[in-house]
Parts: sequence; C-alpha cells; structure tokens
Amino acid sequence: MLDPARIMERCDALARHSELPGGLTRVFLSPEARAATDKVLGWMREAGMQARLDAIGNAAARYEGERPGLPCLMLGSHLDTVRDAGRYDGMLGVISAIECVDVLNRKKKRLPFAIEIIGFGDEEGVRFGTTLLGSRAVAGIFDEKSLESKDQTGKTMRAALSEFGLEPQRIPSIARRKGDVLAYAELHIEQGPVLEAEGLPVGVVTAINGFSRLRVTLRGTAGHAGTVPMNLRRDALAGAAECVLATERVAKGHPELVGTVGRIEARPGAINVIPGEVAFTVDVRAPQDPLRKHAVAAIRSQIEQVSKNRKLDCEIELLQEFGMTACSPRLMEQMDNAVARQGFRVRRLPSGAGHDGMALGAITEICMVFVRCKGGISHSPLESISQADAAAGGAVLLDFIEHFQLSA
Ligand code: GLV
Ligand code: MN
Ligand code: MN
Repeated sequence: MLDPARIMERCDALARHSELPGGLTRVFLSPEARAATDKVLGWMREAGMQARLDAIGNAAARYEGERPGLPCLMLGSHLDTVRDAGRYDGMLGVISAIECVDVLNRKKKRLPFAIEIIGFGDEEGVRFGTTLLGSRAVAGIFDEKSLESKDQTGKTMRAALSEFGLEPQRIPSIARRKGDVLAYAELHIEQGPVLEAEGLPVGVVTAINGFSRLRVTLRGTAGHAGTVPMNLRRDALAGAAECVLATERVAKGHPELVGTVGRIEARPGAINVIPGEVAFTVDVRAPQDPLRKHAVAAIRSQIEQVSKNRKLDCEIELLQEFGMTACSPRLMEQMDNAVARQGFRVRRLPSGAGHDGMALGAITEICMVFVRCKGGISHSPLESISQADAAAGGAVLLDFIEHFQLSA
C-alpha cells in the first residue's frame, strides 16, 4: 500500500529547502536545490533504486526490471519552484513516483521493464529565463548556447553548474536514446479548477499547450522627473505600460489564448528619474500552434508600433518556444483504465501549464495524470491538495505502472 501521509510529509520536508524565509523559492542550481535534491536521492535509494545526481543536476534513479538493462518506463517531474511558490507543483510527481516504486520494492515485484524516476532540476526556468533545462538534457535537445545565459546577478549557467559540482561538458552524455525509454508518465497537480468543479480527484491529460516566451527591451532617454516637459520625454516605462495592455488585448481576443507580462524592470529605477530603459517578459500560450504564433506576431507588431509612436528603440528577443505536445492515445487509454479500476470517473482535460513531458516528447510517447488542487490555485503559497487526493493520484499512477503495456 502507498503511504499518502508520507507523500504529504515529504512535500513539506522539501518545502523547507527555500531561499525565501517563511515561503518557498528554490531555483535551479541553488544551494537549496542541492539540499532538496540530496534528500530526494536518499528517498530513491530507500525505495530500492540506484540513484545519482546527473550532469545537469537532476536526481536520476533506476529500478531494474525482471532482468538488468531492460528499456524503462520513465516517471518524473521537477524539483525547482517559481518565486514564492507552492509545495506540490513538481515535487508531488517526483515523490509519488518514488512511493510507487517503494511499494513494488517492498513486494519484491519486478516488471518486464525497468522504471526510472527523474526529479528534474529545472522546469520553471526562473533563474536563467529558459525552461525545461533538466528534461531537455535528458531528451537530447538541450541547447548548448543556454550555458552562456545569465541569472540576475550576471552569473552564467556554465559557472553555476561548475559551482554546483557539475561538469557542463558532460551534459550531452545524459541524453537518452529513443529505444531506451518506452514511455514517460508524469503525475502533477492540475493547476486549474476543472477537477474541483466536477468533484473529481484525478484527471487524464490530453495535451500540453504550447508556449512562446519573449524578452522585450525598450530604450528611451533617462532624465530629471521635475524639469523635462511631458511632450519632450522618451519615457520607456510609459511605453512598456502600453505594451502590457496590448499583450492583454491580444490575448483576450481568443478564448483559448493567454498572454502574460510576468516580469518588468525599469532603469535606473528612482522616484525622480524618467525611466530610460525597461525590460519585460511576455509569455503566450495556446492549445493550437498557429493561434499562438499569430498572437505572438500581433503582440510584436503592437510593441513595434508603440515604440515608433513614442520614439523608443525596441529590441524583441524570442527566449524560447515549444509547440503543443499531445499525449499518446494508447497511454491515455491505459491511464483511463487505471483511473476506472481505482473507482473514479474518467475525465480527460488539457494542460494550460507547461510540463517536463514537452521535452520528453522528443524521444518517447508521454502521458500525464492530474491531481485536483484547491481552488485551482498554483504558483502561489496558497497551493494546496488533500491527503486523500494524493492517495488517489498515487494509486492511479501505481495501477498504471503495474498494468503498463509495452505495445498497443
Ligand atoms: C510551468 O509551470 C509553466 O507552465 O510555466
Ligand atoms: Mn510550475
Ligand atoms: Mn510544474
């Protein structure tokens, strides 16, 4: 039997590794990430797995099948968080997967395939601006150029990896080959209100929406807030304000589209200085790639128009883009069956949030099970799940693993 109380305790235990006093922030390659990852490696070993820190800082573990060296069913999620985060986004999937293997190990049960669990070091992309670093490395689609990207303090990812005790040149060695991974399955909190509204503890994911992330820099002229008349200003922040509203307007133009300016920085940043330079991010998501691409083009063109009207210089950089990732029909069916066998109504739903499966989709078929979260809230300290729902999610995942079919 799974131990749902231990799942909840372990989520609490990881939440204590935080750079934010009284809250939870744990970014990629931080000392707090190292401590949390070491804890997870210990739990993996207790569950009878061979576990190691891999070259990009993922906690990676393997439970052999009926004989050593068989291809694996890969399970996982991420161990990094957004700023001022909740304690279940990512961590619940890793901890639940370990709990499932622990049950198999205690039963001394070996399956006709190996099981691997990966606690990915970066999914949120908070520190270096690009997401899914851990899972992209495993999928062999890590972009070496991102090693030169810098965090807010100007430190490169390459330097941060070295400080963490890792060798960046070894990253390509953790890429998995297609035949090695039979499928990837992830348990995650829903991060939306659908399951709660329908009174269901779990749901089966159909697809993960695609995303585009931009960084925009507007440059005007800094000057004295008291002396420069309004009609002679090139205020970069006032221009950015128009761009934020333009983003919102475009996103509101279609019910399946979302657009967010999540970060903005004005320089020099003083009460009595006209902002000379502003940098902000834009995040656009949609279930259909053409819809998202069309929206990004519209936002770009409106930002350019605002800049032209206000005589600002404008630079728009595409930080990252990922297409919609469909879950495998045969795996969804197997997950549906696991849900039904555990006594729950089968409900399929798409994911508006990004997940590690987007990267793993490059080498294998993927599927996901969602667990209800309170009020549909995530990326917030208010994120909450019940122990009963953790138990339901874990039971479905274990059932899926035990019935996993290698072929249709
Ligand atoms: C990750 O949670 C994302 O969807 O940005
Ligand atoms: Mn998240
Ligand atoms: Mn997540």
